[in-house]
Amino acid sequence: MIENNTGKKLFIKSYGCQMNVYDSNKMIDLLNPLGYTETKNMEEADMVVLNTCHIREKAAEKVYSELGRIRELKNLRKSQGKEMLITVAGCVSQAEGDEIFIRAPYVDIVVGPQSYQKLPELMAQVSRSKKTVLDLDFPTISKFDSLPESLSIQGFSAFLTIQEGCDKFCKFCCVPYTRGAEYSRSLSEIYREALSLVNQGALEITLLGQNVTAYHGLDYNNEEITIADLIKHIAKIPRLKRIRYSTSHPNDMMEDLIELHSTETKLMPYLHLPVQSGSDKILKEMNRKHTAQRYLDLIDQYRKASPDILFSSDFIVGYPGETEKDFEETLELIRNVRFSMGYSFKYSPRPGTPAAMETQVPDDVKTERLVRIQALLSTQEEETKQDLIGKTCSVMFEKKGKYPGQIHGKNQYGQATCAIGSEDQIGKILNVKVEKIIGTTLSGTIERMD
Ligand code: SAH
Ligand code: SF4
Ligand code: F3S
Repeated sequence: MIENNTGKKLFIKSYGCQMNVYDSNKMIDLLNPLGYTETKNMEEADMVVLNTCHIREKAAEKVYSELGRIRELKNLRKSQGKEMLITVAGCVSQAEGDEIFIRAPYVDIVVGPQSYQKLPELMAQVSRSKKTVLDLDFPTISKFDSLPESLSIQGFSAFLTIQEGCDKFCKFCCVPYTRGAEYSRSLSEIYREALSLVNQGALEITLLGQNVTAYHGLDYNNEEITIADLIKHIAKIPRLKRIRYSTSHPNDMMEDLIELHSTETKLMPYLHLPVQSGSDKILKEMNRKHTAQRYLDLIDQYRKASPDILFSSDFIVGYPGETEKDFEETLELIRNVRFSMGYSFKYSPRPGTPAAMETQVPDDVKTERLVRIQALLSTQEEETKQDLIGKTCSVMFEKKGKYPGQIHGKNQYGQATCAIGSEDQIGKILNVKVEKIIGTTLSGTIERMD
């Protein structure tokens, strides 16, 4: 981070997916030249940004309760003769627009996920006119063209958005409306950003996209390439040690990518592949355009390419029309795959999406199914961790642990792992023999590398 002496403070909070975290970091970089440095203390902030998520009702409502709290701080600062600009960015902005000013009139700026690169301009507009501003453009020139290079990364792991938006229109989902059509960045742009992240100390890069496997950017000859081609290029950066990608979609999984898992050692043996349901009837209703069997076949293909690979997934329970039998089929799919991690949600009707108009499953049924699916998923999470006891994991150490002499990091599957180690081992990738599980963290001994 470039230090500046104007002493303005920016507080930024991200909700939702990793792409919002990426965008928030970009906003920090955008405002740095205006004299803003990040603070974790909202009370001292001259500018507060909530980078919001609209995926489920709860996520969206959280924003309004947080805004209520911020309003009090804004008033307090006003009484001290100080200003506080409030910006709502992200997917709630895109979905609700003007509505935000009605529910929270003390908000100064509402900006969408495809136009936040204009934030400095919008802030100048507010201070000139003393009026609120709204910008929900989907500009024809990609926002990436006007975003600054990242100034500093925290830790050894970085996110890099390579693809945005979605053309799939699953009937439950707001993302195609909030993020817009699919767009892939070019290889040269991504490569440059990857180099810059590695120069700042990144050992691991996670390539991000709402549908990252739908990536179809242009190479140096203006020819379309796949995510597998892109990964092959990035893997050539010597100091980059680990590559991940998220989120994948079962309909975009190509042979070349699966194959790459058997040849590219920098590609981590872990895949987040949302399935949503194990019932073909519900998958069809959702407009997912794949069957449960197609999903299971993909899992098999991945396991053939990379025998030790682990999987995680997303599940929606209580989708309109889901019967007990449909739900049982989801549990069956989970038993078949054995996930190392699972994220399950009660279906939440999103305004304007087709499924919101259907007859809804009663909330008590959704709750009961959620409890059952979560019990199964957490048993599998626990079992897949138990399977690692006695085995050697490769751990990227990122920080000091909770206890003196302990260091903490992530293994190849992204699982939290700790060991007794010295501070100079932070920032290194070392082999750890796993001995036990403490809470949800794996714990082991660093193996000597003679
Ligand atoms: N692009 C990814 C996921 C994006 S949203 C994919 O295609 O899978 C992240 C997760 O939120 C989804 O996988 C889904 O499980 C969940 N989700 C999306 N809309 C939802 C809704 N209306 N109610 C409940 N969960 C939802
Ligand atoms: Fe939403 Fe479906 Fe697109 Fe994923 S693929 S972002 S769930 S519409
Ligand atoms: Fe949420 Fe928007 Fe991401 S709705 S999950 S922040 S794309």
